[in-house]
Amino acid sequence: MKRISWDGRLETGHTVIDADHENLVHLFNQVVSVANHHAGKLVCNRVLDKLIRHTKAHFEFEERLMTEYRYPEKAKHMAEHEALLRQALAYRLDPSSPESRIPLIELSQHWLTSHMLTSDKELTEFLATVVPPSTHTNAQPKSPLDFGE
Ligand SMILES: [Fe+2]
Ligand SMILES: [Fe+2]
Repeated sequence: MKRISWDGRLETGHTVIDADHENLVHLFNQVVSVANHHAGKLVCNRVLDKLIRHTKAHFEFEERLMTEYRYPEKAKHMAEHEALLRQALAYRLDPSSPESRIPLIELSQHWLTSHMLTSDKELTEFLATVVPPSTHTNAQPKSPLDFGE
């Protein structure tokens, strides 16, 4: 399974969201490494749980921004978040079986190529129109993510 490399293509232009995404890609790559090295179920689940925990916190952060700035596509965006978390949890159930690799690949494709590149990009483009540029950085609430664990 291939790791994901973080590059400018994945950037949305929103400093906090991009920092979160970069860290989530890093955690995702840890899951891929563990899966590629055929680590036991417990190790896989531990790494995956961390990714899920951080992903949840990131989604909650984006959802707070959507509420605060009355994002019109909030319901659709939140439904995608829910689906992505469901996929991650489905993978968690049995990471040692060969079929379990499929949801992980789907998670990668949907989360990165679809969600980050389209839905998150649309959200940040919207935020850029409603938050004055001079206050843009200050108006961005701090993400609750703590990657120092
Ligand atoms: Fe999102
Ligand atoms: Fe995101």
